[in-house]
Amino acid sequence: MLTHRSSSPATLCLSLLGLYFLGLVLSQPTANLSTTWAASSISSVSFGNGSPVGSVKPILLRGNDVPSFACGFVSMLSETSYLFAISIVYTNASQIDQTYTAFPEVVWAANRNNPMVNPTLELTSEGDLILKDGDGPVAWSTNTSGKSVVGLNLTDSGNLVLFDDNNVPVWQSFDHPMDSLVLGQKLTIGQKLVPSVSETNWTAQSLLSLSMTSTGLFAQMDTNPPQVYYPVRINFPNTSNDSNYIEFVNGTLALFTNSTRNGSVFINIPSASLFMRLEYDGHLRAYEFDTAKYQWTVAADILVRDYGDCGYPTVCGQYGICTSNGQCTCPDSNGGTNYFKQTNDRHPNLGCYEEVPLSCDNLQFQSLLELGDLSYFTYSTDPQSTPDLANVTKVNCKDACAKNCSCKAAFYVRGSNIRSDAGSCYLLSEVFSLMNLEQLNNSIGYIKVQNSSNKGGKTNRLGLILGSSLGSLFALIIVIGVIKVSSRKREVVDEADEDHLDQVPGMVMRFTYDSLKVITEDFSKKLGEGGFGSVFEGILKDGSKVAVKRLDGLGHIKKSFLAEVETIGSIHHVNLVTLVGFCTESSHRLLVYEYMPNGSLDKWIFCISSEYALNWQQRRKIIYDIAKGLNYLHEECRRKILHLDIKPQNILLDENFNAKVADFGLSKLIDRDKSQVMTTMRGTPGYLAPEWLSAAITEKVDVYSFGVVVLEIVSARKLFDNSQDSENTYLVGVFRRKAEEGGLSDFIDSHSEDMRLNEAQAVNMLRIAAWCLQGDSTKRPSMSTIVKVLDGLMDVPDDLEYDFSYPPLMKTSAKAPQEEVPYAASTPLLPSVLSGPR
Ligand SMILES: *[C@@H]1O[C@H](CO)[C@@H](O)[C@H](O)[C@H]1NC(C)=O
Ligand SMILES: *[C@@H]1O[C@H](CO)[C@@H](O)[C@H](O)[C@H]1NC(C)=O
Ligand SMILES: *[C@@H]1O[C@H](CO)[C@@H](O)[C@H](O)[C@H]1NC(C)=O
Ligand SMILES: *[C@@H]1O[C@H](CO)[C@@H](O)[C@H](O)[C@H]1NC(C)=O
Ligand SMILES: *[C@@H]1O[C@H](CO)[C@@H](O)[C@H](O)[C@H]1NC(C)=O
Ligand SMILES: *[C@@H]1O[C@H](CO)[C@@H](O)[C@H](O)[C@H]1NC(C)=O
Ligand SMILES: *[C@@H]1O[C@H](CO)[C@@H](O)[C@H](O)[C@H]1NC(C)=O
Ligand SMILES: *[C@@H]1O[C@H](CO)[C@@H](O)[C@H](O)[C@H]1NC(C)=O
Ligand SMILES: *[C@@H]1O[C@H](CO)[C@@H](O)[C@H](O)[C@H]1NC(C)=O
Ligand SMILES: *[C@@H]1O[C@H](CO)[C@@H](O)[C@H](O)[C@H]1NC(C)=O
Ligand SMILES: *[C@@H]1O[C@H](CO)[C@@H](O)[C@H](O)[C@H]1NC(C)=O
Ligand SMILES: *[C@@H]1O[C@H](CO)[C@@H](O)[C@H](O)[C@H]1NC(C)=O
Repeated sequence: MLTHRSSSPATLCLSLLGLYFLGLVLSQPTANLSTTWAASSISSVSFGNGSPVGSVKPILLRGNDVPSFACGFVSMLSETSYLFAISIVYTNASQIDQTYTAFPEVVWAANRNNPMVNPTLELTSEGDLILKDGDGPVAWSTNTSGKSVVGLNLTDSGNLVLFDDNNVPVWQSFDHPMDSLVLGQKLTIGQKLVPSVSETNWTAQSLLSLSMTSTGLFAQMDTNPPQVYYPVRINFPNTSNDSNYIEFVNGTLALFTNSTRNGSVFINIPSASLFMRLEYDGHLRAYEFDTAKYQWTVAADILVRDYGDCGYPTVCGQYGICTSNGQCTCPDSNGGTNYFKQTNDRHPNLGCYEEVPLSCDNLQFQSLLELGDLSYFTYSTDPQSTPDLANVTKVNCKDACAKNCSCKAAFYVRGSNIRSDAGSCYLLSEVFSLMNLEQLNNSIGYIKVQNSSNKGGKTNRLGLILGSSLGSLFALIIVIGVIKVSSRKREVVDEADEDHLDQVPGMVMRFTYDSLKVITEDFSKKLGEGGFGSVFEGILKDGSKVAVKRLDGLGHIKKSFLAEVETIGSIHHVNLVTLVGFCTESSHRLLVYEYMPNGSLDKWIFCISSEYALNWQQRRKIIYDIAKGLNYLHEECRRKILHLDIKPQNILLDENFNAKVADFGLSKLIDRDKSQVMTTMRGTPGYLAPEWLSAAITEKVDVYSFGVVVLEIVSARKLFDNSQDSENTYLVGVFRRKAEEGGLSDFIDSHSEDMRLNEAQAVNMLRIAAWCLQGDSTKRPSMSTIVKVLDGLMDVPDDLEYDFSYPPLMKTSAKAPQEEVPYAASTPLLPSVLSGPR
């Protein structure tokens, strides 16, 4: 960037001041001590001929073309009300060009909430920079008196710096950000961006902020405690807070920990962006300059919410309910007595207010409106938010708010385990925009209202709004609860089996067959069935649930069974299902696993009901979990373990939708059993990598199957769908066609709005899948590489083959236990189960 008069000393002294009357060209980029600038003596450059009119009275000017920076007095809304500010201007031949209304763009102001009629700025002989209105008292100061300041500099990047005689900054405007970050600016721990209340009202600051804290970057409402609507959690090393920050570098909001740039990318931004601003609507927008039209355009909306605009806290004002179609309503405008009124009838998005304000002196006249399918941004957008009360019923949740004076609303979120009535409860001390969205129907809102004393004790008429579907669900929960309690009187017999002397070390328990019969109520509650055997629900003596897998036809395997159990039992990873125990007694071979409340992944991704459809974040997290689990098996545990049967039926979900890989290690067991048909080919057709037919098997076969599962998760389509016409039956074939036509976005689950909103990320996930499906196994990435890609530390290569060359099968020796494996010429094997789900 060219600097104005960069060859000259570029300083300004008092004697030059008079020259301001002659023109703007003399604004310099630096200034020395003992200088005073009065707005009244600086001529102004006005922009535009409509209103609002902007004008700049420059003191320091730096740069040429766009962006150039002017530090001086700026008026935005009224010709006589000035801020001392830094703004981006367009200069042509060292003069501010006023042809374009796109300027000035204020990126920092000293007196943002206190505009002045006749401001005067002084750089005192002691080195303090002070701002006064006319002859008034000091309204703002950098407090740098006596700190050896020798001058003032406006840098190329728009930073106003007071420096000492070693040229070291003593004070800089970058350390006091307003609502914007310009290219090159940092946000260190403790700093934040705060917008004004509206585009036209500069006198007050919003409660919104983008705050950098020692736990991450959070877009939030600055209440106590803060209400976060966009969290980016970061594990900072325990180093000086100043060395941990994000910086707006060209094209990226980059993360620096311990002053070292971490990873290649943190948040990507179009590289033409020149500044970004947190705006009064909660959006963080990056702006680029359109040199054809000489206008600013939004290059990116950076913190994109999962729930569209409804996910922003101020979209419908306080107490306003945001619905899928973008409307704002008040909590009780559906009939009956209105507790809330719109702040402005013509502008529903300005929110609602309580007709009778809440008063803790009249607790007996307070009640809680129950509103079904109502949710709130804090927990909906932050899977890691901690509830105020965990594992409570909705009645507990409502009571907790009723009894707590500072609570204005409570939200009860059903646990994802529909077999339990335990849920999470969130209490709010301030209520911003609420959400009533189809995809968020698992929570109930309780809004506290004050009845005027004469209508006290009113019944809760809005309870009826709670849908009947919800009602019946709770009935179901109660029935299940009763069943659960009645099956508690079970015992675990945890004794040694005298048949075998081999001991399995570690935490793995040995069960007798009789004890497992008791635990599973004589194998009565079947959870699933498959080629390896059937899986039953059981409850241990301590009340914890387990899944008991009865392996079929392995009765004669003894020593190797114990060896494998030892291996499986010694593997512990959050993304692998834990083996709790086993049983080997005469011909019985059983494995006892931790219970996974949400069952297998196939139930969730191919589910037709949108009520249970997983959102993008959940799907992404599941993919990430599977990758971590497989990475552990392949690369991190003591012995490399190939799974050989990755498919949705073998991915299980816990109550929080954390995914865990199941049935690892079992393939090995089967392998030892030469009587099985799977010796030549094992796994599930369709998920099998091409090299099964010829080459040696490596861990890359799991990578291939993983790729197939990713396709299924992102498209929400089964690998084989016989309800489609023949060319659309086989998902990998459909994928190949879409990829070759360049229409990967057509492949994404089109029933989920959330998936469509996250299309770019979903398409990138499909590129990862394509990488995993490369016909040549050596071109497939390792699981650790995939984890790195998912972490944003690596990119998918561009030279992917979309052929996936899967040679048609002419014959196979593989046979399903019950049925013949059919095959069609155009597609590989059709899905029949060779080895079963749990
Ligand atoms: C301003 O400071 C520079 C050095 O930083 C010096 O050369 C110049 O003489 C100073 N001007 C005045 C007016 O003090
Ligand atoms: C810059 O100024 C010159 C001379 O005033 C003018 O001819 C030119 O059009 C200006 N450039 C732009 C982009 O406005
Ligand atoms: C200067 O000090 C005053 C009083 O301590 C404080 O209110 C003000 O925020 C400080 N100014 C700056 C720019 O930090
Ligand atoms: C002022 O800032 C410019 C541009 O960032 C820089 O080149 C120059 O050295 C600075 N001058 C002083 C005196 O710090
Ligand atoms: C600006 O907003 C504040 C706080 O919301 C309000 O008190 C003030 O009246 C507003 N000013 C204008 C000019 O609208
Ligand atoms: C920063 O880098 C280190 C080492 O590369 C890594 O362990 C850590 O997770 C990274 N932190 C973030 C927030 O990416
Ligand atoms: C921070 O960086 C310094 C210098 O590079 C290094 O000595 C120190 O170990 C680092 N600290 C942490 C916690 O990474
Ligand atoms: C982090 O550093 C501070 C001081 O630098 C020290 O007091 C504290 O114990 C450290 N914490 C940890 C977890 O290392
Ligand atoms: C960083 O700042 C946080 C508060 O913002 C403080 O709790 C923490 O101790 C600081 N850490 C260091 C190493 O200074
Ligand atoms: C940012 O990078 C792009 C390409 O990498 C380049 O075209 C552009 O000029 C850069 N912008 C700035 C302000 O450096
Ligand atoms: C939830 O509460 C129930 C009953 O109060 C209790 O049995 C159960 O262990 C709790 N679960 C958790 C995870 O705290
Ligand atoms: C009362 O409610 C506030 C939020 O409104 C919550 O932060 C606080 O923990 C609650 N107090 C108790 C004792 O539950």
